Amino acid sequence: MKEKVLDVSNLDQDALKSLDKHIDSLKGSNEKETLIPVLYKAQELFGYLPHNLQRHIAMKMDLPSAHVNGVVTFYSFFSEHPTGTYTVSVCMGTACYVKGAKDVLERVKKLTGASEESMSDDGLFSIKDVRCIGACGLAPVMTINDEVYGKLKPDDVDDIIARYKEDNQ
Ligand code: FES
Repeated sequence: MKEKVLDVSNLDQDALKSLDKHIDSLKGSNEKETLIPVLYKAQELFGYLPHNLQRHIAMKMDLPSAHVNGVVTFYSFFSEHPTGTYTVSVCMGTACYVKGAKDVLERVKKLTGASEESMSDDGLFSIKDVRCIGACGLAPVMTINDEVYGKLKPDDVDDIIARYKEDNQ
């Protein structure tokens, strides 16, 4: 059976050339070891790692697509979706979950209109649910870019999100 050709025509072609050059420069290195730096570079160039780009990287590096996708989805700093100016990461690790992280996440979604799959219409917010970020004493925890917010109640989220919105008016 003829294999389906990978369509990457929707991607920035200059960025793709630059990424291919970067991958070619690493030829001869252990592909599994260089995958994370390549994914970093790809995210820097494209802003996120859509599925066709992941498959392109897998083909170029001679790795199974499932392996590449497994790495992308394992590390929270990689994103498969376009990200807004602010990435809100709500920790869904056990300590945070039992202290109400789910309600915090729901409030963030309601206030921003973003979800784990799509950023807010104004391009300001994207959402990630992440596993333990090592601040369990502050559970439930969320981060917005590099800022950490702990011991959250859903009502606290209202003020926090409002501040970010105000900063961009
Ligand atoms: S479980 Fe959320 S910081 Fe550890």
